[in-house]
Amino acid sequence: MMSFEEIKEKEERYSTGVYPKRDIVIKKGKGAYLWDINGKKYVDCVGGHGSANVGHCNPYVASAVKEQLETLTSCTEIFLYEKRALLLEELAKITPTGIEKFFLCNSGAEANEAAFKFARMLTGKNEIIATVKGFHGRTFGALSATWEKKYREYFYPLVPGFSHIPYNNLDALKEAVNENTAAFIIEVIQGEGGIRIGDEDYLRGVQKFLKEKGVLFIIDEVQTGFGRTGAWFASDLYGLEPDIITMAKSMGGGIPVGAMGIGANLENVKKLSHGSTFGGNPIAVASSLAVIKFIKDNDIINKTKELGRYFIESLKEISSPLIREVRGKGLMIGIEIKTKATPFLKKLADQGVLALPAGRNVLRFLPPLVIEKDDIDFVVEKVNKVLKV
Ligand SMILES: Cc1ncc(COP(=O)(O)O)c(C=O)c1O
Repeated sequence: MMSFEEIKEKEERYSTGVYPKRDIVIKKGKGAYLWDINGKKYVDCVGGHGSANVGHCNPYVASAVKEQLETLTSCTEIFLYEKRALLLEELAKITPTGIEKFFLCNSGAEANEAAFKFARMLTGKNEIIATVKGFHGRTFGALSATWEKKYREYFYPLVPGFSHIPYNNLDALKEAVNENTAAFIIEVIQGEGGIRIGDEDYLRGVQKFLKEKGVLFIIDEVQTGFGRTGAWFASDLYGLEPDIITMAKSMGGGIPVGAMGIGANLENVKKLSHGSTFGGNPIAVASSLAVIKFIKDNDIINKTKELGRYFIESLKEISSPLIREVRGKGLMIGIEIKTKATPFLKKLADQGVLALPAGRNVLRFLPPLVIEKDDIDFVVEKVNKVLKV
């Protein structure tokens, strides 16, 4: 077994340096917990950046993937495959009304790339409107929809035809849409942008306006999907029915997978206009089916709703002059503080709680949805402790 120093030295020497790494070597995970190489246990509110909704080493996923590894590991979409057929059917059942067909891929950025390509192909128009503080991934199309300067500045020229308007501002959308607009993309809750929640009136107004104008409504549910907000998709919280929905992260229970879902009217789709070698691969398909079954069998959606309410209410009871606001839906929670978040994340980790930043001054909590009430009490106690001044 290598020491902490040896592992750190090798990662620093052989990786590109794009990731700011924390001084913690993770050894194993189970449910909502992670352990480091010294045996220290953490309550994991990073949750693989929101990809661990069903928990680390989920037993449904583990047994589905083990079985799949011994049955079939490669089967591209030029062939038919039973589990893929079942997954597509399940996705049609759990996604909002109107979403009926899916393009399977491997990540959130790829799901959004597919969304933009389909939006252009279906409408024959080329402009995509996105939002200030929106995050949609880092490949060129997805990055062009992503707002934050630090992700974009070294990579110009980006894809032409993308623009950004203020979030939660319907008038800005009305002004921005023109005869070349193919689609508007939004997160129901901006994750990376600081756990900023879309107003119900705004989101419904957006949907109504886009329908009137014949502009496609794309909802990016990469972070909010698969139970995270106490609903299968955050769109369900407001009865939204997007024309296109994108998902990834927790869909595969730890296995890389993503999907773009779209309505049934795909007359303009051309054969071979899009594709992916690993899209719809048997391992990702088996793990995604296991995730959906686990969520259903264990009533995870309702439990998340309740636990989320409890977590948010408990955090709101903390009295600290540093806290500006506690906000969230389900187990997608942010604490906006009056100063930089990162030093507090380090203090929390020392106390056995792993959490994320969102923007400069928001502490973000995306625990596995299998977290227990006692663990939430533990996290709240530690947040209280580190935010005491
Ligand atoms: C809302 C949203 N969209 C897209 C992405 C990109 O997903 P991926 O990192 O899988 O490409 C993310 C990742 O954080 C996200 O939060």
